[in-house]
Amino acid sequence: MSTEHLNFPCFLGRRVHLGVTGSIAAYKSLELLRLLRHSQVTVGVTLTESAQRFVGADSFRALGADPVHTAMFGPGAGADPFVHLTPGQKAEALVIAPATANTLAKLAQGLADDLLSTQALAFSGPLLLAPAMNPAMWAAPATRANWQTLLDRGAVGIGPALGDMACGDTGEGKLAPVEHILAQVLRALSPRDLAGRTVLVTLGPTREPWDAVRHLSNSSSGLMGACLALAAWMRGARVRVVAGPTAIDFPPGIEVTQVTTARQMLDAAQQLWPDTDLGCCTAAVCDFRPLPQDSQDPERKIKKRDLARGDLALRLVQNPDILRTLGEQKRKDQILIGFCAETEDLLSQARLKLSEKNLDLIVANLVGVPGSGFDCPTNTVTVLDRTGRVEQWPELPKTEVAWRVWDLLRHL
Ligand code: C5P
Repeated sequence: MSTEHLNFPCFLGRRVHLGVTGSIAAYKSLELLRLLRHSQVTVGVTLTESAQRFVGADSFRALGADPVHTAMFGPGAGADPFVHLTPGQKAEALVIAPATANTLAKLAQGLADDLLSTQALAFSGPLLLAPAMNPAMWAAPATRANWQTLLDRGAVGIGPALGDMACGDTGEGKLAPVEHILAQVLRALSPRDLAGRTVLVTLGPTREPWDAVRHLSNSSSGLMGACLALAAWMRGARVRVVAGPTAIDFPPGIEVTQVTTARQMLDAAQQLWPDTDLGCCTAAVCDFRPLPQDSQDPERKIKKRDLARGDLALRLVQNPDILRTLGEQKRKDQILIGFCAETEDLLSQARLKLSEKNLDLIVANLVGVPGSGFDCPTNTVTVLDRTGRVEQWPELPKTEVAWRVWDLLRHL
């Protein structure tokens, strides 16, 4: 699974503590550590005794965790005599992934009989819990009650997924996808400056079918829009995404409406727009759609042998412009952001679209230059707002472009 939309490089110097408990899923916490380090987060680790049956402290050290503790006393505690208190003093979030039924029970009851449970009891910051266990254990009334107690106390629950278990059972109990856990950890470290705002993001390509199995489309990956959606959600907004076909997997906190065609995207976006504070259209909407051939059944595949001379002419009609439509319907209390990709006259084209489509901000990039545009993890953009402000940004990861776009709202 691609994680580029989660690769926010703006957490340098921030520290979280990762607790790992005894589940077969413990090896996935190494991937969580790797992704956190990618976002420049400093990570300390505590492994319970049973976690060490599945993964070793040296693997965490090799991936950059510091410190790594394995016991309350002796060599596993390191040189720090107050190792049970240090995460509470130094880390901004405590994430336990995977969290076993036993650990949930200890946390719910306030037991402090090993290093991790003691550190958790002494930790007053955000606690994130990603359970993993056999489905019967997850469904057990005692576990349900412990889980509810922890959620009621304010823990962020990253509930387990459905799937096949190592023991052969199938059900709910698999560790949530590591990418979803990562997103929640980054959210715990983010400012909440978009809290109370509702954000709408259109993203990805559209597909315009011309028979039962073929379509016109483009190679948009939806990455820029996904980064904007993620950044807004991490910063406290309610985020609704209208997505054309993409491979991007969003954490459950983001509400996603999947669409295929431009007209479906327009319908979905228009339905959500009245209830939106900040709209952001990044979708690479196909400007044209094929008209069905005369007497063609859209449920049928067109066959070569049915064509008189083997050639086929498609007639294209214009699709609605979603951004323009939202701009026409925009209220004074709403903000609308558009994107544009141009081959020439970047500034004048962007200025024209800003005013024609009634936008508050437009993010423009030149196509055909390296480090920019479609299917690329970075973008080199010029940003114009309705007050006349123009900023030219260097080549940046799309995550960083997204973060800075939301920062610009301060000026509007
Ligand atoms: O006019 P142009 O296609 O360059 O405008 C690009 C902007 O308009 C992008 O924000 C894109 O998401 C949006 N757009 C749209 N509906 C269309 C075409 C473009 O929302 N049919």
